[in-house]
Amino acid sequence: MENPFKFGTIVEDEYFTDRVEEVAFIRQFIESANHLILISPRRFGKSSVVEKVVKQSGRKHITVNLQQVTSVADFSAKLLKEFFKVHPLELVRHLITHFRVIPTVSTNPITGAMDVSFQPGVDGTMLIEDVLTLIEKAHTEKDRMIVVLDEFQEICDLAPKFDKQLRAIMQQQKHVNYILLGSQESMMTDIFENKKSPFYHFGQLMRLRKLPRDEFHKYLSERLAGLYASQHHELADAILDYTGCHPYYTQQLAANVWQTGLIKPDTTAPIRSAIDHIVTAHGLDYERLWAVFNRTNKWIMQRLAYGKPLQSGEYRTSTVYSALKRLQKDGYVIYSDHYELEDPFFKEWILASNA
Ligand SMILES: Nc1ncnc2c1ncn2[C@@H]1O[C@H](COP(=O)(O)OP(=O)(O)OP(=O)(O)O)[C@@H](O)[C@H]1O
Ligand SMILES: [Mg+2]
Repeated sequence: MENPFKFGTIVEDEYFTDRVEEVAFIRQFIESANHLILISPRRFGKSSVVEKVVKQSGRKHITVNLQQVTSVADFSAKLLKEFFKVHPLELVRHLITHFRVIPTVSTNPITGAMDVSFQPGVDGTMLIEDVLTLIEKAHTEKDRMIVVLDEFQEICDLAPKFDKQLRAIMQQQKHVNYILLGSQESMMTDIFENKKSPFYHFGQLMRLRKLPRDEFHKYLSERLAGLYASQHHELADAILDYTGCHPYYTQQLAANVWQTGLIKPDTTAPIRSAIDHIVTAHGLDYERLWAVFNRTNKWIMQRLAYGKPLQSGEYRTSTVYSALKRLQKDGYVIYSDHYELEDPFFKEWILASNA
């Protein structure tokens, strides 16, 4: 029997649940001439929800993840490569005649995969301007392209003043809807909400929350029923209690609970067994992470793991606050209505190590 839960990659179709309002909103929004900025902590489902909407729209779209980009020239090449996937080179050859630097386009004869590059040392600003102009020229106001830029906050590190240059070019475009995704809340809000930033109020800001409990419960129990005929409701509740409805960790735990049921059908504690399995599998990673945390970070992580207050007088409030912000930026801590550890299995490991 195939595992009905999926984690780690973009989820679609039967693996995708809820987000009904978000899908409707984004869908309607990209019909307008505006841009959307979607923020959430890591693995909340940004890519999945955007992929769903963009596919549904039937419009031409490309995605580039800024985390994989090493320079402005590389960004330009990656955008162009994605562009050629939806606009075959033969059909747009006449549009690249305006390029000030001609890209090298090659095809791997075995895989058929296309590669695009620019000769090294060329001014990146010129390249990105040419590529974005090409996108603009290939589309119209009635047929706008959707350009999704993932981990957009990385833009700031690409080159000095690049945000300003990019904004200046994007501002001229009328045939593109940008969807900009980011998982670093503070950097993203600084880019789009700070009056001094070139991207100040560039588009509509939207925050993705965890999945609603009722919907997620239904999703889990329906699938668990295939293996756990009598206790699927309780199991779904216990999984959600443990993960706090975090999309990724919920699917991960559910997938392991399912696996446990297959391998050890007589087990009386499938959730405990699945948790132990996951924590053991990641034990080495957790150990390595823990070893490089400084004392303040370790203290904060432990307090959060035990659910104890952070104002205890042990550390100065300002020290705790700035460490907390850093932990949040690095993705170890998330804030919804309170601060909590992002990874429930890391939390489990911390508790077990201190037992
Ligand atoms: N709507 C959903 N229904 C069910 N599971 C979901 C949904 N959205 C996300 N998930 C779960 O969360 C995981 C991460 O989703 P996704 O990659 O879309 O998130 P992300 O926010 O783009 O993550 P990252 O920060 O790593 O880019 C998925 O593999 C899946 O297990
Ligand atoms: Mg993503």
